[in-house]
Amino acid sequence: MMNATTSNFPPGIAYMGGKYIPMEEAKISVLDWGFLRSDATYDVVHVWKGRFFRLDKHIERFLTSIEKLRLVLPFGREPLEEILKSCARRAGHEDAYVEIILTRGVSPTYSRDPRDAIPTFIAFAIPFSWVSNEEQRKRGIDLHIASVERIPPGAVDPTVKNYHWLDFVSGLFEAYDVGAENVVLFDGKGNIAEGPGFNIFAVTNGQVVTPATSTLQGISRMAALELLDELGVPASTEPLPIETLKDADEVFITSTAGGVMAVRTVNYQPFHAGAPGPMTRKLSALYWEKHGDPAWTTAVAG
Ligand SMILES: Cc1ncc(COP(=O)(O)O)c(C=O)c1O
Repeated sequence: MMNATTSNFPPGIAYMGGKYIPMEEAKISVLDWGFLRSDATYDVVHVWKGRFFRLDKHIERFLTSIEKLRLVLPFGREPLEEILKSCARRAGHEDAYVEIILTRGVSPTYSRDPRDAIPTFIAFAIPFSWVSNEEQRKRGIDLHIASVERIPPGAVDPTVKNYHWLDFVSGLFEAYDVGAENVVLFDGKGNIAEGPGFNIFAVTNGQVVTPATSTLQGISRMAALELLDELGVPASTEPLPIETLKDADEVFITSTAGGVMAVRTVNYQPFHAGAPGPMTRKLSALYWEKHGDPAWTTAVAG
């Protein structure tokens, strides 16, 4: 386990250019298309008590995103998995946030043709991080529906995990300006899309709905849908109108960075069942229970 230092970086280990290095040494060129053009994809898998949660699903989503962006990973799936495990092992955190990134890279001639760039691969493991802090997880987070729209799926495919976050960041400032703690964006057509790093669910009369489109197909969202099925709760993916969200019995968000987390208010409005509501509690408990199940997890040490 690395010692926390006075460094400006969280303690951890990165893999870059074929080497494992301390987090503070993990740097990319200012000429990288990932930095200059957000031309990159990434994925984040978490480790909980020494086990990756749904590693295979994260790797599959990463490989699909790479293909959709016509990027090329310079090695196969097995070395990728080994690098992830090795970063996590070397970092030594029991609970970790493990990210993999592939950017278009740098073109040696600064060519404007993306085909001329040589891809940059980065992986790193740092301590686990949460969308909602401890207090917010206990009493539910206060969300604001921003006036800014989520970038439309016709412009950037939201199923490719991406760094097009200017809409989210503008939305976050809008939320802070009105005293809210986080933001959710809509799709420009009156339906809720997603928030910075999370999917959203509304529970009404025992039925659960999460937006079908305009969102990343979150691995935690997928887990929540599977677990709701296991609990015998009807859940569907369909458009989620803003009004349905505001009038829900309970609302929760899902993310690799925290699992199933309660929402207390949306635009200052509390929900009928309070927060955390009974469905959120039940689902969250089952979500964390699965972290000890070998069918859902992979040992870092393995
Ligand atoms: C835009 C966006 N939506 C949803 C999510 C949740 O996805 P997952 O459950 O795979 O963490 C993320 C995760 O970072 C995200 O960036």
